[in-house]
Amino acid sequence: MDTRIFGTTEQDIMQAAEILKSGGLVAFPTETVYGLGANALDPEAVGKVYAAKGRPSDNPMIAHISSKDDMGLLTDGITADVEKLMEVFWPGPLTMVVPAKPVVPKVTTGGLDTVAVRMPSDPVAAAIISASGVPIAAPSANLSGRPSPTTGRHVIDDLDGRIDAIVIGSDCQVGIESTVIDMTSDQPMILRPGIITAQQLSQALGKEVTFDPALLQKPDTSAGSGLLEAGSDFRPKSPGMKYKHYAPKAEMIIFQGDRQNVAMAIAEEKMKRAQWEQKVEVIMYDEEHPEEAAKEFFAKLRACDKSGVDVILAAALKEDGIGFAVMNRMFKSAGYNIVNV
Ligand code: TXA
Ligand code: MG
Repeated sequence: MDTRIFGTTEQDIMQAAEILKSGGLVAFPTETVYGLGANALDPEAVGKVYAAKGRPSDNPMIAHISSKDDMGLLTDGITADVEKLMEVFWPGPLTMVVPAKPVVPKVTTGGLDTVAVRMPSDPVAAAIISASGVPIAAPSANLSGRPSPTTGRHVIDDLDGRIDAIVIGSDCQVGIESTVIDMTSDQPMILRPGIITAQQLSQALGKEVTFDPALLQKPDTSAGSGLLEAGSDFRPKSPGMKYKHYAPKAEMIIFQGDRQNVAMAIAEEKMKRAQWEQKVEVIMYDEEHPEEAAKEFFAKLRACDKSGVDVILAAALKEDGIGFAVMNRMFKSAGYNIVNV
């Protein structure tokens, strides 16, 4: 398939919207990551997204809208809490899971009776969605399993030849996917952490916001007994593929603990790997600015792939606020290959 490459002129946006309207696939920038869009109400169009990404079809998609009024097209579940979050955080990197109206196809919701909805703040995204006149289902515009794309180049690398068009806009400012919060009960629950934190959400709602318990567990990937310990002669193993998302081609190890110890352990490991003639990349973000880590992390993994890095040694961030969201991605990228120091 010939993939058309658009810029962001008004004419480009109109053409992109036309393709979406007629059931085609168009990737476009949002403030979080690039999305791969299709008409969310057209089961055939949405079906093509799964195929283009190589994504399992039980993984539901987010429906993107360009106006708060369009929320009513997708759900009857606009509670006072939902309304509050729409007011405070939309447009922006927050996705709300709400009961789905029957008009939302099962292929969009992965067979669920709920639908995830987001109103992006990126002006190009908003213009494309608005011009298409329909809600747009848009997972991240990467091949399934690869790091989410934060530049137009990343999208071209993954999807050129597989979709109808790519709109190249600015690089993504947030860099990780939106916060997903389940609003289908009185007790809001974060299903995917993002740049909008539990604390901000709970403050806006005036009530506690919980986390999906699955977010607080790390699978045990070591052979026998829990996570690898400092001082053990660790030989990182190839982690279970089912845990590996956002995976770089390189082996990746996360060092967690006191920053000074982490720096020392990484330096030691780096020397050892260099002796093995491996190409090593170190990732150590400023703990005080996790938003910078969020913005850069996926691009970094892709850069490592391109330059043929063999092993990535990464320092963990503190697991709170935005740091928690970054570490959620970092742990998955590394297949939970963690060394505690
Ligand atoms: O920032 C983002 O959210 C980006 C941009 C393009 O907007 N999109 C994105 O889509 O990350 P995707 O498909 O890669 O991730 C959607 C997430 C998945 O974790 C999915 O399981 C969850 O949202 N999700 C979607 N619908 C859901 C539902 N009805 N119930 C629970 N989780 C849902
Ligand atoms: Mg994704």
